[in-house]
Amino acid sequence: MRIDILTIFPEIFTPLDVSIIKRAKEKGIIRIKIWNLRDFSKDRHKKVDDKVYGGGKGMVLKCQPIFDAIDKIKSENKDAKVILTSPTGQLFDQQFAKKLSQEKGLILICGHYEGVDERVKKICDYEISIGDYILTGGELPAMVIVDCVVRLLKGVLPEDVPVYDSFYNYLFDWPCYTRPKNFKGMKVPEILLSGNHKAIENWRKKIAIKYTKEKRPDLYEKYIKQGGEDDIEKS
Ligand SMILES: C[S@@+](CC[C@H](N)C(=O)[O-])C[C@H]1O[C@@H](n2cnc3c(N)ncnc32)[C@H](O)[C@@H]1O
Repeated sequence: MRIDILTIFPEIFTPLDVSIIKRAKEKGIIRIKIWNLRDFSKDRHKKVDDKVYGGGKGMVLKCQPIFDAIDKIKSENKDAKVILTSPTGQLFDQQFAKKLSQEKGLILICGHYEGVDERVKKICDYEISIGDYILTGGELPAMVIVDCVVRLLKGVLPEDVPVYDSFYNYLFDWPCYTRPKNFKGMKVPEILLSGNHKAIENWRKKIAIKYTKEKRPDLYEKYIKQGGEDDIEKS
């Protein structure tokens, strides 16, 4: 998958050069290109923002550099979907990430200041928010989206890993323990030391259902609606 990111802070994106994302690049599963929006400014001082019509606080990213940049990026990444990071967009979640992981390419626009000129939305396929809070710019949201989508691409992780992650089928992941068996009096549940794989699988599923139901009834409801069973003993 080819991913392009349009930003006024290209230097921020170092987290995409480590760990799983780095390995996905090395394996040739993804290619990420960071574009500096200022390179598309027609202003002699490379200005990309301006005052808000109607008066009031703050500056807004202008149409011209963004439209020109997207034209250029699309000429290299033809079938890509254009995503605007925006606090007023559709809320991002694991299901949304699954959908985006099916796309051929993604182009992410990072807003800044008061955001982008409203007309930029005309050239976007999606407007995505990563949560009901305000960040300084779209760079962190873009990295959140990229990280989450790349994990789901074939060959990035062993095939069953994303399937057992929290939210994949709405349920939480199960709790994990490692050595020692007893740490300051806190013991690893006996069942996990039993070697009985069927019993361990049942315990893990039961506890994932219990924790989801207790902490996130909204997700539990979705899990049941899509045919998930509550009483796994009966199945
Ligand atoms: C300071 S914010 C603009 C906030 C805007 N004045 C508002 O209240 O809706 C600047 C940029 O950060 C990004 N951003 C901030 N919070 C975000 C969120 N929760 N999800 C996605 N993008 C966000 C967007 O690209 C946005 O254009």
